[in-house]
Amino acid sequence: MQHSKWNGQCSACGTWNSLLEEISTSTKTKNLFTGYAGAPDQQSQITLLSDVGVAHDIRSTTGLLELDRVLGGGLVQGAVVLIGGDPGIGKSTLLLQALCLMSQQQKSLYVTGEESLQQVAMRAGRLGLPNQELLLLPETQVERMLLHAEREKPQVMVIDSIQTIYTELLASAPGSVGQVRESAAQLVRFAKQTGTSLFIVGHVTKDGTLAGPRVLEHMVDTVLYFEGEKDNRYRVVRAIKNRFGAVNELGIFAMTDKGLKTVSNPSAIFLSRNPKPVSGSCVLVSWEGSRPLLVEVQALVDDSYMANPRRVTVGLDHQRLSMLLAVLHRHGDVATHNQDVFVNVVGGVKVTETAADLAILLAMFSSLRNKPLEQQLVVFGEVGLAGEVRPVQSGHDRLHEAAKHGFTKAIVPQGNAPKKPIAGMEIIAVEHIQQALQQL
Ligand code: TYD
Ligand code: MG
Repeated sequence: MQHSKWNGQCSACGTWNSLLEEISTSTKTKNLFTGYAGAPDQQSQITLLSDVGVAHDIRSTTGLLELDRVLGGGLVQGAVVLIGGDPGIGKSTLLLQALCLMSQQQKSLYVTGEESLQQVAMRAGRLGLPNQELLLLPETQVERMLLHAEREKPQVMVIDSIQTIYTELLASAPGSVGQVRESAAQLVRFAKQTGTSLFIVGHVTKDGTLAGPRVLEHMVDTVLYFEGEKDNRYRVVRAIKNRFGAVNELGIFAMTDKGLKTVSNPSAIFLSRNPKPVSGSCVLVSWEGSRPLLVEVQALVDDSYMANPRRVTVGLDHQRLSMLLAVLHRHGDVATHNQDVFVNVVGGVKVTETAADLAILLAMFSSLRNKPLEQQLVVFGEVGLAGEVRPVQSGHDRLHEAAKHGFTKAIVPQGNAPKKPIAGMEIIAVEHIQQALQQL
């Protein structure tokens, strides 16, 4: 939607304060015959799908196992990867580490628009990274940057960050939507033409979108987001979009004084729990990308003294909580209309899948009744509006992960009950939330 002047409200969707200024300076004229801007210089052709030769993805390791994992098993040649996250979360650190390691095998170029060469060198030195082969370029103008890149022909390139880059085609300031989009478009075109793999760093604005409302996400092959609290040591890199692998894949790192270290057994760290059973705590086996992850869901349900009781979620969907409270009332006969409800996923992870429903429900019920759940219990399952407990994907693998970490009891949907018993694991298969609540 375009407006000729600034408006407080978007006349199309009615949201307030959502318009962004973008100065358009179009140089191309329309082709009279096709209606498209810019007539093609080369003739395009129609081909049969079966005639297209398929080259297999050429992947290379980034030197960091968890980063390889979120990328879908290594960096694909010619792929453009966008890495988003809050300022200071560790994007530059991660990419500097990866690029220093990669530079030993491939020609690598790190373009820094934010930090000076000294700053980058100091960081590499402090982290003890191999620095013999990595090429550095301090540059913010995309045309000059690509000129260098054409001459040097790197195989991997990092642009840190897209918000500092500008193109001479536009007069607007670096970081504005137009600049971000146009610079990124030039970079992507370059990557596709030359087969250079490209990492683009993008800072996330306060409201959680990449500056220039997600304009970049559809241009690139892979979008990775850094999650995690700054004061927490653990950092989670999540694939939001990936043309070369599974979405929602997680890479888990710990920020140490020697940079980001990959975490090989993530379930163990998110589960460091209170040794004594406490009410309101429930262990969930969630499924992230291609692997299970054990996390603790905590709930606090307490008498409210407000007209509108509070409903607060951290790391979970807020709407989902409201829905679960309604189901709990209607089908579980548990009223919470005069209670404040807080639900939190420990360790700063975000859980997006519906398999968390049953664990959230049990954690809330446990807090409300002030009765702890068993220490060695794990839970997963989706809850429907009729109070039914629905099966979720990979039930079997989830149970095995729980057994591996010493859990001895599981409440699971009937549809996920294993056909053969799992050694050392008691399975309680439920069809309705009533059956699950009775377990408390
Ligand atoms: P940085 O990679 O500069 O963040 P971004 O590029 O996403 O803005 O991350 C810097 C933060 O990480 C900073 O707050 C300090 C911390 N840090 C460590 O704790 N240990 C380290 O070894 C490094 C390099 C940074
Ligand atoms: Mg940075």
